[in-house]
Amino acid sequence: MRRVTAFKMIADLSPCADAPLLFFDSGIGGLSVLRKVQAALPFAPIIYAADYAAMPYGTRSESEIAARVPALLGRLAERYRPRLIIIACNTACTIALSHVRAALNIPVVGTVPAIKPAAAATKSGVIGLLGTAATIRQAYVDQLQADFAANMRLLRHGAPELVHAAEAKLRGEAVDPNICARAIDGLKQQRDGENLDIVILGCTHFPLLQAELAHAAPGVGFIDGSAGIARRVCHLTEGQKWPRVRSPGIFVTTGDLTSAQRYQAALTIFNLLRFERL
Ligand code: DGL
Repeated sequence: MRRVTAFKMIADLSPCADAPLLFFDSGIGGLSVLRKVQAALPFAPIIYAADYAAMPYGTRSESEIAARVPALLGRLAERYRPRLIIIACNTACTIALSHVRAALNIPVVGTVPAIKPAAAATKSGVIGLLGTAATIRQAYVDQLQADFAANMRLLRHGAPELVHAAEAKLRGEAVDPNICARAIDGLKQQRDGENLDIVILGCTHFPLLQAELAHAAPGVGFIDGSAGIARRVCHLTEGQKWPRVRSPGIFVTTGDLTSAQRYQAALTIFNLLRFERL
């Protein structure tokens, strides 16, 4: 009898099949994380939230991000009742992850620069980190370096141009190869840069430009956190129910809907077919 009651409590706590996964980023960068999660959980209902009213995050102050992100996620959680939130933004996470976790009673998966796997993969001991200007200066990154790459060289470079280039690419516009070359040069021109053998894409926008970046850096490997995040999401939702068919996902923006529709072709690939405004 006691066992039946315990089982019922667990069943009651389990989210209903329609409860979505909520992805959050300043713009479309989080699609690089969503694509890995969708490959693993194809029937998961998806809400993708983009804070276009405040994009780019990388040039904003710590206090602005720390106040804005938990407040927005609170409103989104109230509207969409997600089973899990994925903050698919390194800038937001390295600044505000602990604030969000403290404010919300929902599991939150964060995205932070993949320093640990990069340290395991480098042969030369020289690792590059491309991120936003805000991300690369965070104490959170200093701590990751101290924990996982203490005896290595971590070259950091803030590359805001790549954020805009990734946004443009997903609107169907051409990417200027000089932008990628400048980002790689920003690492290679630092001391020991000639020995760089692995680059961490520490902004979720950047994997969307991986082919273009690889062209600018022959012989260099690239790494990002999206595969690890997909594994974490699967682990946290293990045993939960999902719908039997794939339903259209929702793209919600803090910006205007007309601008959001310029991404429609790219968003359709991710089955994000409905547009809403927060
Ligand atoms: N995609 C974001 C990140 O991972 C932020 C880009 C921006 O808005 O500057 O850091």
